[in-house]
Amino acid sequence: MRLGYTLASLSWLALPFAKAANSTSLPTINITGNAFFNSETGERFYIRGVDYQPGGSSNLSDPLADATTCKRDVAVFKDLGVNTIRVYTVDNSQDHSDCMQMLTDANIYVILDVNTPDSSISRYDPACSYNADYLQNVFATVDAFASYDNVLGFFAGNEVINSVNTTNTATYVKAVVRDMKKYIKARGYRQIPVGYSAADVSSNRQLAAEYFNCGSDDDARIDMFGVNDYSWCGQSSFQTSGYATKMKLYANYSIPIFLSEFGCNEVPGSRPFTEITAIYSDRMSSVFSGGLVYEYSNETNNYGLVQIDNDTSVTKLQDYYNLQKEYSSVSDPSGDGGYSTTNDYSSCPSYEEGTWEANNTLPAMPSAASAYFSSGAGEPMGTSLSTQELCYGDDTNSDNVSSSSESKSSSASSSSSSSAASSSTLSASSSSSTTASSTSASSSKAKDGAHAVRVPLVFQAIVHIWNYVL
Ligand SMILES: *[C@@H]1O[C@H](CO)[C@@H](O)[C@H](O)[C@H]1NC(C)=O
Ligand SMILES: *[C@@H]1O[C@H](CO)[C@@H](O)[C@H](O)[C@H]1NC(C)=O
Ligand SMILES: *[C@@H]1O[C@H](CO)[C@@H](O)[C@H](O)[C@H]1NC(C)=O
Ligand SMILES: *[C@@H]1O[C@H](CO)[C@@H](O)[C@H](O)[C@H]1NC(C)=O
Ligand SMILES: *[C@@H]1O[C@H](CO)[C@@H](O)[C@H](O)[C@H]1NC(C)=O
Ligand SMILES: *[C@@H]1O[C@H](CO)[C@@H](O)[C@H](O)[C@H]1NC(C)=O
Ligand SMILES: *[C@@H]1O[C@H](CO)[C@@H](O)[C@H](O)[C@H]1NC(C)=O
Ligand SMILES: *[C@@H]1O[C@H](CO)[C@@H](O)[C@H](O)[C@H]1NC(C)=O
Ligand SMILES: *[C@@H]1O[C@H](CO)[C@@H](O)[C@H](O)[C@H]1NC(C)=O
Repeated sequence: MRLGYTLASLSWLALPFAKAANSTSLPTINITGNAFFNSETGERFYIRGVDYQPGGSSNLSDPLADATTCKRDVAVFKDLGVNTIRVYTVDNSQDHSDCMQMLTDANIYVILDVNTPDSSISRYDPACSYNADYLQNVFATVDAFASYDNVLGFFAGNEVINSVNTTNTATYVKAVVRDMKKYIKARGYRQIPVGYSAADVSSNRQLAAEYFNCGSDDDARIDMFGVNDYSWCGQSSFQTSGYATKMKLYANYSIPIFLSEFGCNEVPGSRPFTEITAIYSDRMSSVFSGGLVYEYSNETNNYGLVQIDNDTSVTKLQDYYNLQKEYSSVSDPSGDGGYSTTNDYSSCPSYEEGTWEANNTLPAMPSAASAYFSSGAGEPMGTSLSTQELCYGDDTNSDNVSSSSESKSSSASSSSSSSAASSSTLSASSSSSTTASSTSASSSKAKDGAHAVRVPLVFQAIVHIWNYVL
């Protein structure tokens, strides 16, 4: 009798919870101080993630638009034990609802880069590439994803600064951060964090961290900072890897930091992922909020956890089992992990020729883009839109810096575009097989990624595309 009563009450109680378990949304992840929190439970949230872009940028496709491959991969994400994925490029004209629902059902959050290879800030002509058409594409991507509560955040740029001589691009990337944050407010969306994902360039890593988190304009400062860091190789340690130094470097940073790519593969055999023990410990939790392993699928650069067989099947590699073991045996630090709410935003690094060439006066938003604030970005243009040379189309900039065809060829021949893992360390082994030899040949010398690679003309187009994502 008593038991029956209890069960009956429980089933009443259970009803809303059962619903919650298969709800259409996840609790949003909110930021307080320098940490992420689950907005429902109030618990600290550590990113345990994997970077996800099957096909890489050599065969660019939107991984969140294909329900068949999402079904294949979301099951694997669950088995691997991740709570977040990062996607580098989507097609904002596609429907993402099926995949986003599958991820939600699996309690997985998404960090999304808003750029495409041809719609991004150019390293070679950043001022020109920062135009209203580009912003339309960025805002349309925000429109396409803002309603999903499991979007943890957006990256406004990835490794745009990837050398000693690309620091001048930071001004334009920061302007994009500002415009996105203003757009999100103007459209009445949830305050989705906007961040930047940085290459690990020793000469400017601290300057970049400070620059994106400096100045009294809240809208222009990033909400979160991702570092692509491949410094822990094999059986390394907190000291040897340089993690200890980075803890000191970022000690007073006022916003969440996480490893937006990690997983050095310059080791014989499979990767042991012993850095997991350090990342999710209280030696790092006062500053870092977890990270994402590069990367899910095995592409030609050989960083994969699984080999994709076909649309319905993958083969798990030894790296996968090693990472799964680490993720499952290492729990999050207890309590709040020693996060901080008292750090102030950074002070702006000053302009210094040859070292930090980013201006602290951001360019005004191209005035044609302001229409999107009142009416939305309009029709999404997808991934084929090329905006890098459209500066003449910007009504605030009518001086036609260079002709469209001229800037196009210079951009293609030098593999511009907002790039990803052309970071010093990653470029060591990234790339397709055609470009691998030249890239890896130069990369050991190019510790700071400053040395460009001369590639035969026939490969330049490949590099141009390819340089973007991986
Ligand atoms: C959630 O509900 C949908 C539709 O009602 C159903 O198709 C799906 O299988 C459910 N998911 C889980 C994890 O129970
Ligand atoms: C989390 O952020 C959302 C959107 O900004 C806000 O509505 C909500 O109140 C926040 N929740 C908590 C617990 O701070
Ligand atoms: C590119 O991706 C598509 C769709 O996933 C696939 O059908 C095709 O075989 C891939 N091409 C190459 C060269 O890998
Ligand atoms: C961090 O702040 C503390 C206290 O203000 C200060 O002593 C320390 O030098 C700062 N560290 C860095 C790396 O700026
Ligand atoms: C990953 O792909 C690369 C290039 O296709 C291949 O050489 C390598 O053997 C693959 N790695 C594994 C572990 O299968
Ligand atoms: C996909 O690959 C798996 C493993 O090789 C194989 O068993 C399966 O039959 C394949 N499915 C299709 C549809 O080709
Ligand atoms: C910084 O930008 C402002 C406004 O565009 C400009 O007047 C100034 O000359 C720039 N300074 C440098 C060092 O580029
Ligand atoms: C700038 O370029 C556009 C497109 O090529 C052209 O229509 C326009 O007349 C040019 N404006 C000036 C001031 O040269
Ligand atoms: C940076 O310097 C390298 C090597 O000197 C050069 O090849 C590359 O084109 C430069 N990049 C930019 C954006 O100027």
